[in-house]
Amino acid sequence: MENLKINIEKVFDFVGKDEIFSLKANALASLNSLHKKTGKGSDFLGWVNLPSQITGAEMDDIENTSRIIRTRIDLVVVVGIGGSYLGTRAVAEALTHSFEYLKDKNTNPQIIYAGQNLGEDYLTELLEILDKKRYAIVVISKSGTTTEPAVAFRILKRHLEAKVGREEAKNLIIAITDEKKGALRKMAGDEGYKTYVIPGDVGGRYSVLTPVGLVPLAIAGFDIRSLVKGAKDMLALTLPEVAFEKNPAALYASTRYLLYRKGKKIEILANYENKLHYLAEWWKQLYGESEGKEGKGIFPGSVDLTADLHSMGQYIQEGERILMETVISIKSPKASLEIPTDDDNLDGLNFLAGKRIDEVNKMAELGTMLAHIDGGVPNIQVLLPVLNEYYIGQLMYFFEIACGISGYLLGVNPFNQPGVEAYKKNMFALLDKPGFESESADIKKRLK
Ligand code: PA5
Repeated sequence: MENLKINIEKVFDFVGKDEIFSLKANALASLNSLHKKTGKGSDFLGWVNLPSQITGAEMDDIENTSRIIRTRIDLVVVVGIGGSYLGTRAVAEALTHSFEYLKDKNTNPQIIYAGQNLGEDYLTELLEILDKKRYAIVVISKSGTTTEPAVAFRILKRHLEAKVGREEAKNLIIAITDEKKGALRKMAGDEGYKTYVIPGDVGGRYSVLTPVGLVPLAIAGFDIRSLVKGAKDMLALTLPEVAFEKNPAALYASTRYLLYRKGKKIEILANYENKLHYLAEWWKQLYGESEGKEGKGIFPGSVDLTADLHSMGQYIQEGERILMETVISIKSPKASLEIPTDDDNLDGLNFLAGKRIDEVNKMAELGTMLAHIDGGVPNIQVLLPVLNEYYIGQLMYFFEIACGISGYLLGVNPFNQPGVEAYKKNMFALLDKPGFESESADIKKRLK
């Protein structure tokens, strides 16, 4: 069976193969530290072996709960932010029919999201939709105290209780949080919600293969066993014992690190299958929060192609030469659609007649790759055979383990996010949160 592959040949005009291979010892030592838990942030490495440690009983429990809830709802509202929602959204959007929301009848409950922003219109419009739908809530917060999801949950809980009654609402709410601490853990205990645990040693952005991702995805009908199997197989393919040249994670981490050292400060993750838009959002959080600290780190950006060739293409081709590009390339689409012949040929497209849309897409991909290389943008390819749960599992684990290696090559702790607290402190001070009185006066003066 085919696996995810990486192709770094198209960076050799920018960094030599020998330079990349000179990082072999460092990269494999970093990888070893992740497995042996000897590097920075070693308290947060529970995700490394997670795919091979999830038990059959845990999967059965998640699937049984999901089965019971699925029959009673049209929608599942995932309430969470950052690592507590992006993994679910990445998988769900990659594998859902593009026009599922327009179908007369959906086979599976649809996932919608709340608590990932503070938009008043967003929440109001969501409530309007929920008035007419049968729904369940999966509220996810490791800390149990994050403002955005806590605010959304307060509103949604009240809405659901008013709609179905307090007792029935308890059967339709699942809380995923820390095993012992946090406001959400306490509330779930007091109310008697079904709960799942986010392991203490797994940070939010590495948590997609815990109940954080698995519970909502199972409710929405995705094959979580294949997702985990894909990740488990990628774990085996990226072990420290795997030779550097065959280890996709070590190669990817080393290549992007060297390009960064040569001035390529921004990495854009490109797709030619726009269902991967949220996979890129997940990837941006993973790499941005893991690497961007101590004045260091590649800035992760993303583009959906070919759409963004007509917006960002100009900059990528000719703007400041600080970009590298990583393309997720899907070998075969699920569908098959040919371009028809047209007798009048008014659009001049008969030269494409009989070709599949995907062939045109692939030529756009190859043409763009060469153009970008000519324009000074090195290109890394991540190749997947098809888009399904199994290969998304491979892809996510590949990016996670490569991110750990990258962080260690850079010399930072890839498993903390101290900078995220700065905005919270100011926001709490401005909102007069008890305990922030001294900051409050100061910050209000600054804004005058
Ligand atoms: O990766 C992380 O740790 C963060 O992005 C968190 O997932 C995010 O801030 C949400 O935190 P919590 O789950 O505690 O509400």
